[in-house]
Amino acid sequence: MRERKESIVMVTAYDATQAAHAEAAGVDVILVGDSLGMVVLGYDTTIPVTINDMLHHAKAVRRGAKNTMVLVDMPFASYHQSVADTVRNASKIMQEAYADGLKLEGGSEILPHVQALVQAGIPICGHLGLTPQSVLQFGGFRVQAKEMDAAQKLLDDALQLQQAGAFMVVLECIPSALGALVTESLDIPTIGIGAGENCSGQVLVYHDVLGLGMHHRRPKFVKKYATLGDSAISALTKYKDEVKRREFPNPDYRYDIAADAISKLSN
Ligand code: KIV
Ligand code: NA
Repeated sequence: MRERKESIVMVTAYDATQAAHAEAAGVDVILVGDSLGMVVLGYDTTIPVTINDMLHHAKAVRRGAKNTMVLVDMPFASYHQSVADTVRNASKIMQEAYADGLKLEGGSEILPHVQALVQAGIPICGHLGLTPQSVLQFGGFRVQAKEMDAAQKLLDDALQLQQAGAFMVVLECIPSALGALVTESLDIPTIGIGAGENCSGQVLVYHDVLGLGMHHRRPKFVKKYATLGDSAISALTKYKDEVKRREFPNPDYRYDIAADAISKLSN
């Protein structure tokens, strides 16, 4: 697709219904993002998300989208101890969730881990720029690689990930000119989220695309294609009001029994 210059479309999903929606829409890749910690589990960051959380949701996504490529995020600190631990954690996700590949945040720091996973036969997607598992070091969710040194490190990291065998790399929240330069410099596809229009593809979070969230922050790079959160609240309010007024269920929504059958019951 990169060679054909066909833009690659990725969206996150966290359960079978969302995965089925993404598959029905014809997206190219579904990401079971560890953003599930924030948009589904109610944490402030992705840091509390565990391997078991990822497995629980990845299995549901796989069941809901059998014919779409499913990538799964390795969660916080699950690929930072020994390389053997990384391979064990990664194989568990691959084997139990039937994932098509895994995504890891970071560049030069994690190269030995990326190499070992690729050697084990696992397709690996990198993730550079605003890597949310390091949000505490960044001091908040903010644009990355705006200075020359950081931009150079990001470009070097991307090249090293490619060299280590990564098949794709996500670029999050970086200046669009840097997104373009990295994309030009690599042979593997880049998937941008807040990285401009010149990446090989784009990714957004399911809840952001649909406008499902209640309060969580909406960064500049998010385009809301619907306001399903508002629709949900208004539907739930109508349901509540109708039940309170005893308008629901009306006869259209009930099961009947012959009057003589009920009259013969003793009490
Ligand atoms: O967890 C996630 O949703 C992600 C994407 C935003 C790239 O990593
Ligand atoms: Na993620």
